[in-house]
Amino acid sequence: MTRLSDVWPLFGLELRTPRLSLTPVRDEQLPELINAVLDGIHDPAKMPFGVPWTDAPRDVLIRETVKHQWRQRCSVEPGSWTINFAVSFEGRVVGMQDVSARDFQLLRTIHSGSWLTQSVQSRGLGKEMRAAILLFAFDHLGAAAALSEAADWNAASRGVSHSLGYGPNGVSELVARPGEVTRQVHLRLQADGFNRPEWTLRVEGLEPVLPLLTG
Ligand SMILES: CC(C)(COP(=O)(O)OP(=O)(O)OC[C@H]1O[C@@H](n2cnc3c(N)ncnc32)[C@H](O)[C@@H]1OP(=O)(O)O)[C@@H](O)C(=O)NCCC(=O)NCCS
Repeated sequence: MTRLSDVWPLFGLELRTPRLSLTPVRDEQLPELINAVLDGIHDPAKMPFGVPWTDAPRDVLIRETVKHQWRQRCSVEPGSWTINFAVSFEGRVVGMQDVSARDFQLLRTIHSGSWLTQSVQSRGLGKEMRAAILLFAFDHLGAAAALSEAADWNAASRGVSHSLGYGPNGVSELVARPGEVTRQVHLRLQADGFNRPEWTLRVEGLEPVLPLLTG
């Protein structure tokens, strides 16, 4: 037991795409992650998230974002987990790609969510990071399906899903902000409907995390 990844194997996991590195958030990445949040993720007039966490005052936003990362780590159980991947581009953390599963051994389904700091949006990175976790889930974990959802006005998020092959899976309403009803579009992708990227995903540190993730 000499390294942190020996006692918490998720810290040894890394997914690499042509331009990005995805690693479960480590504490030393939190300052860069917070900077990416504070630099702005979206037009404040429109709330893309189901929970309006980016509306919080600066000091609350910082504290709650950090606590959220620790809380997610603490809730990891075999087959039921959320991994928040810090997304690094050109040497700095620019966003987050989360992947979650419940009773993975039975359901073989993952759910994902993501954001990028505004300065790097619309360059294909959102699609690249989503493709990374789909390749990971389908090819390395043995997932059969992937779910996502987005507000009906969120063309960028829906654009990523559409271009990777997701199809419609119903709609619902939620109150993302007090008094504000958002129509959510649900999307589903079967492994055999995945529009695969031309590049190959490189995965490091897989073996030690497999028992935990697949349950
Ligand atoms: C959603 C998000 C991660 C997408 O990442 P991105 O890097 O901006 O998107 P990409 O450049 O990878 O675009 C991927 C696809 O969506 C399309 N797309 C992107 N933005 C679009 C827009 N505003 N309108 C229409 N299509 C759009 C692209 O054309 C591309 O499709 P293609 O491969 O067929 O050409 C990013 O925009 C973001 O962080 N937004 C704010 C937070 C958010 O909304 N998170 C999701 C909550 S559900």
